[in-house]
Order: sequence, then structure tokens, then C-alpha cells
Amino acid sequence: MYPKTLKHPALAPAYEKIAELSALPLWEILGDVVAEAPTPLGVPHIWRYQEMRAPLLDAGQRISAAEAERRVLALKNPALQRPGISQTLFAGLQLVMPGEVAPAHRHTAGALRFVLESSGGYTAVEGERCVMRRGDLVTTPSWTWHDHENTGDGPLIWLDGLDVPMVNFFGAVFGEEHPGDQQPILRPDDASVPRWGSGLRPYGAAHGKPWSPLLSYPYDRARAALMAASAGDAPNPRHGFKMTYANPLDGGHILPTIAAFLQHLPAGFETTPWRTTEALVFVAVEGEGTAQIGDTSIDFGENDVFVAPNWSPIRLRAGRDTVLFSFSDRAAQERLGLWREEADATP
Ligand SMILES: [Fe+2]
Repeated sequence: MYPKTLKHPALAPAYEKIAELSALPLWEILGDVVAEAPTPLGVPHIWRYQEMRAPLLDAGQRISAAEAERRVLALKNPALQRPGISQTLFAGLQLVMPGEVAPAHRHTAGALRFVLESSGGYTAVEGERCVMRRGDLVTTPSWTWHDHENTGDGPLIWLDGLDVPMVNFFGAVFGEEHPGDQQPILRPDDASVPRWGSGLRPYGAAHGKPWSPLLSYPYDRARAALMAASAGDAPNPRHGFKMTYANPLDGGHILPTIAAFLQHLPAGFETTPWRTTEALVFVAVEGEGTAQIGDTSIDFGENDVFVAPNWSPIRLRAGRDTVLFSFSDRAAQERLGLWREEADATP
């Protein structure tokens, strides 16, 4: 608990008596409690899709989705003890084989799913099937029933992003299994898209939840918006062309804890360094390039997942025309008044 070198070594005997009372002399540890700037938690790291896909498919042969409940390879940050990709975020690659169902359950942790490989399937959320095509973003907010089914003839694989470490930190973990494998379907597929995602909203309808009522953000719409909205603009030096997945009711983030973004880096474009208090998880949807995160240089290609810990300078370079999906804990940090960025960070 104490630093190796005490500021006031002569007081060590007194500190032992204080420790017996389950108390600490704050003046010895003040630098840990009130630092001048954040220390990055965890390290930058990349999980290459082609390396991860083989053991994931192997697990698909050895354990059923029903047995596993969720057949997921959790992406563990090498410098952290708990199975998080960052101090605040959980990420995992999930596989559902053709004909399989991952049974319905719910939990207080909120989640997003970003689809990497699909020939057909869906996530059902609160009575509504959200179709899963490659690049689609689907949310399963806190305490919403969700189950997954592969209706195609090939593996259905997506990246899970959850706020599990945050919910664990607060000690607010609850979970429940649905009595049936699949929940009853109450509405047409992707019903939330025309209902909330068309620039109109149902007259008089209330939502009253701290997350977006839009449960699905299909990739074809998101990509078209990203490309069309930035046409004719100069790229932002730090981000290229970047858009935030938004709650259509208030312009806020998709979930109360997690924000998500889609970013276009034209071929050859290189960003200036940027750092932020949020931990960011990136997925290369299209293209390839290099990410310089702190002292670590990462070459990424399609479907690779990489993490930039909090307050790590980030510099991105696109080898080819590149589209990056990313998610972060920014939504929680903004709600807590903690989020900051620094534009002139030097890696
Ligand atoms: Fe779940």
C-alpha cells in the first residue's frame, strides 16, 4: 500500500499503528490519489482476426452455443488482471454456428455487437429481431432480453463490447435466464429502424430510457451517411472523417456508458496525434493501415481489433481507403463530467 520510499521514514512506526486501524496517512500516497494527469491503464494491443478466427471456430466444434451459453473469446488486455480489453470495457469475439441459438438472457451490463462475418442471423432484443449483416451495429441495453440465432450457412461472428468492468466496479451486477431459449417476437424485423431512425419519431411515443431507442444501425446506412456527409469537406487533422452513432431523441450516445463511432481515413491520410481520457477499441471494417498508440506501432487489416488505453497518444495512418469502427467509455465519462481530450499530444 505504501510506496517503497516513504516521504517521512521516521514516521514508519506510527504508520503501522494507523494501519492497524484500517487507515492510511494520505500524505504518503497523495500522488496516487490526486495525480497531475492520467496514467494509461493497460497497454495498446491488437487481436488479428485471422489468428483469432481459427481457435474460435475450433471452439465451435467442441462446445455448443447452448452449452457455452455464450461462445466468446474474451479479448484480455495483456497488462490487466481482469478479463477486460481496457480498465472499463469488455470486448470479445462471439461465434454462433449455423442453426444454433445462443439462449435468451438479460443482465445489467449494456452491450453492443459489431458484426464481422455473417451469412444470415439476428440478435433479438425485447421482442424485436435486429438483423446482423457484416458491419451492422446492434445494441442490447441494460436489462433487455436478448438471444442470438444464426440463420445462414456459415459462421456468424461479431465483436461484443460491454460495460461489464464498470458495472462490476459499481457492484451493480444482476443477470437472469429467460424461461425459453428464444423470447417471443412482438414486432417486425429491424422495427426500431423506421420507428426511430428515419429523422422522424412516432407521434406521442415515449421512450423514457437512458439509451437510444434505435437498436440497430445498419452498416449500409451508416457508411453511406459517413461518405456523403463528409463529401467536399477537408478531413479533420486528428480524425479524418468521423461520425458518432447517435441517439435520435437527444443526439446523445447509443448507451449511457458506451459511445460508438465510424471513421473514414482516405488512402495515405495520416492523423495528427490525439489523446483522450476514454479507452478506445477499434475495428478495421475496410482497408488497412498503421496505428501508433503511445510507443506501440500496430499494423492493422480488415476485421482486426485493437485497443488504445486512456490518455495514450493515438496517430492513425491509412494505407488504403480505410473505415474504422470504434467504441469507448466516453458516454460514461461525459455523464460523470470527466471526459477530456488533448489535441497536441506527442506520441
Ligand atoms: Fe448477454
